[in-house]
Amino acid sequence: MGKRRVVSGMRPTGKTHLGHIHGILENWRDLQDEYDCFYFAADWHALTSEYKNTSIIKESLTEMFIDWLSVGLDPQRSTLFVQSWVKEHAELHLLLSMITPLGWLERNPTYKEQQQELLEKEVGTYGFLGYPVLQAADILMYKGNYVPVGRDQLPHLEITREIARRFHYLYREVFPLPEALLTEVPVLLGTDGRKMSKSYNNAIYISDTEDVLATKIGQMITDPQRGYKKDPGDPGVCSVFSYHRIYTEPDVIREIDMECRRAGIGCTECKKILVKRVKEHLAPIQEKRNYYLTHLEEVEEIIHEGTEQVRVVAQDTMSEVKEAMEI
Ligand code: TRP
Ligand code: SF4
Repeated sequence: MGKRRVVSGMRPTGKTHLGHIHGILENWRDLQDEYDCFYFAADWHALTSEYKNTSIIKESLTEMFIDWLSVGLDPQRSTLFVQSWVKEHAELHLLLSMITPLGWLERNPTYKEQQQELLEKEVGTYGFLGYPVLQAADILMYKGNYVPVGRDQLPHLEITREIARRFHYLYREVFPLPEALLTEVPVLLGTDGRKMSKSYNNAIYISDTEDVLATKIGQMITDPQRGYKKDPGDPGVCSVFSYHRIYTEPDVIREIDMECRRAGIGCTECKKILVKRVKEHLAPIQEKRNYYLTHLEEVEEIIHEGTEQVRVVAQDTMSEVKEAMEI
């Protein structure tokens, strides 16, 4: 039997930050060893919230692929493509929309939350409500077995499974029921302790140089009870320490933990160690990134080839879908 298939997408809505790398992309990279991976830029999904500001999508698109390649997504093992270049996604979205009860979409907790969060973007639209139907089309199109997503995406995946079940009930069985592959890595918060996001201005970017890292990490809040170096600190409540847990070697983490608690290390020094660790982590990524930034034609070729490959799969699925529906 061939490898099981993984399908996942990311919206091109801005620069790649450490949260994307640590939370998503390194996981995507590791899945390549075991699965047949399809990764795509969900530019139509981006449009559901960025329809007033479409330039951000084009600006981010190529750079997003550059960043994926730099983190280690390998076009020999994964297929990388752009959602909107495969028009079949729109067609399947339309057909699935016919069988999707409104209640499933209206009850979707992510929908309600985002309605509140994105007030100024005015997402009270038909397209935004249908976001999970488009996502179902993305996944079912390629008969994905697994979908690596964060916890916040679980309701969307559940809707995909419900739509597939309903399709099978109404017509006949065509799709595997996709399962979530939860990313069980600790969440990397922004430099202010909130969710890392461009809009909060608290993100560390893939392109940040050592100077920028030093400034951003230098401004991070540490244990708020720790006013002076002579006061003992509590790493458990310190954002800097939560970064160390991800980027620093275990024995050094243990030492920092101990020294902080007995006021043996100051926050300035502790942050300096972190700057060094994050810089080391980013260095090989940035090196590859600089290569691709000056070899854009290679990147374009990879995306075009990937898109051609998946188009054939998408066309096969559409034939099967229409046959099942007798249309
Ligand atoms: N909704 C996903 C996100 O915001 C992006 C996405 C679109 C996706 N289509 C998908 C993820 C299909 C997995 C599978 O992160
Ligand atoms: Fe945080 Fe490090 Fe300061 Fe302790 S020494 S409070 S872990 S920054």
